[in-house]
Amino acid sequence: MPTVINPDAVPKSLVSELIRPSQVHGSLYTDPAIFAEELTKIWFKTWVFVGHESEVPEPNDYVRKQMATQDVVMTRDRDGDIHLLINRCAHRGLQVCDDQKGNSSSFRCPYHGWTYRNSGELLGYPYNKGYGGKGRLELGMGKVPRVESYRGFVFGSMADDGPSLLEHLGAATGEIDRLAGLSPKGEVSLDAGWLPHKTRANWKFLAENETDGYHPQFVHGSIFGVTGSPIGALYSDASTAVTRALGNGHSENDLRPEFRKFAEPMRWFGTTPERVPNYVAAMREAYGEDAERRMIEGAPHVMIFPNLFIAEIQVFNIQPNAANECISYATAVQLRGGAELNRRMISQSIGSVGPAGMLLADDTEMYERNQQGVSMLDPEWLDVRRGLVRETTDEDGFTIGAATDETGMRGFWKQYRALMEA
Ligand code: FES
Ligand SMILES: [Fe+2]
Repeated sequence: MPTVINPDAVPKSLVSELIRPSQVHGSLYTDPAIFAEELTKIWFKTWVFVGHESEVPEPNDYVRKQMATQDVVMTRDRDGDIHLLINRCAHRGLQVCDDQKGNSSSFRCPYHGWTYRNSGELLGYPYNKGYGGKGRLELGMGKVPRVESYRGFVFGSMADDGPSLLEHLGAATGEIDRLAGLSPKGEVSLDAGWLPHKTRANWKFLAENETDGYHPQFVHGSIFGVTGSPIGALYSDASTAVTRALGNGHSENDLRPEFRKFAEPMRWFGTTPERVPNYVAAMREAYGEDAERRMIEGAPHVMIFPNLFIAEIQVFNIQPNAANECISYATAVQLRGGAELNRRMISQSIGSVGPAGMLLADDTEMYERNQQGVSMLDPEWLDVRRGLVRETTDEDGFTIGAATDETGMRGFWKQYRALMEA
């Protein structure tokens, strides 16, 4: 007899009643059962940013990474292919790779000495007669089944099939292209080292905040004041910048209208062509007339769902540990062929998102207070309606709002809901 599926018997996602067009429920940030559901439906399914190819430049290089709750090793094998191995021995489950990074064609488990190739296959096991001889075990390290890169940015998906990386990235590819297009060689590297910041807050507070243009004037007012930074004005009521939902949960603060108004190359970086003459010359050499446009418009400010945030000159990788804890890894963008800028990018990044980074400390304080606040019972809902009344559609069909609108957040929740209800 054919199996009859009763739709009422299929368990409904926990989130269905918790997301409204202009409100989200506080329990989305605190409930361990929802976090468990997110792991299976988002983090172990969609494309997750893991790292950058420039972190493993040579054959047999490896570096440890986090994919949500999973400890993975990003390796480059002898043929140059990138793998993401789950750091767990196929024998008794021990963590196989202990060093944070290095160069090795194989890994040896410290417990009983099983060895694995850096592409995950089992190479050997001691005293093999106990298993009936050599080559009898069809075991290996677990592997993230799908690994793909876009312009060196490495993503993994724990699902065997589903949309391709390009389908997932959609319009966000253009933002990564914009960043790479600021390098005279058309390439960025993310090899300056990642600083991990543990935050006692739900990962979604970080993802939502990354294109929230409503908060900078208030949260970062003191640092803007001390440094005389013009950033605050980019996110004021008078700003011509827009917030754009790019589809698939991605969103950006498009600051280009503001920079085009001034039409000054390198203003986006707070400098002038005279102060970085070699970089400007290399850009003109590489891109001809288009170099001016690139240097005026600057770098993107884009949140790529669920965990890659390109904040002009820094990149963040957000990884959740639990409903109330995540780690945000930050690094300075390095532009190939942009030595003059690269040094400055590192020192500016140390000041803003380093161990005592001022911007990061400001934001983290908000995330953690937010987390504490949502465990209070009343009112139950958070409000995300800002700008809903004035949203429009741009010429490419994307939803746009003003610089301070919550358009990006609503785009995030749309994708979140689609994945959780799938
Ligand atoms: S647990 Fe790894 S070799 Fe035994
Ligand atoms: Fe901020």
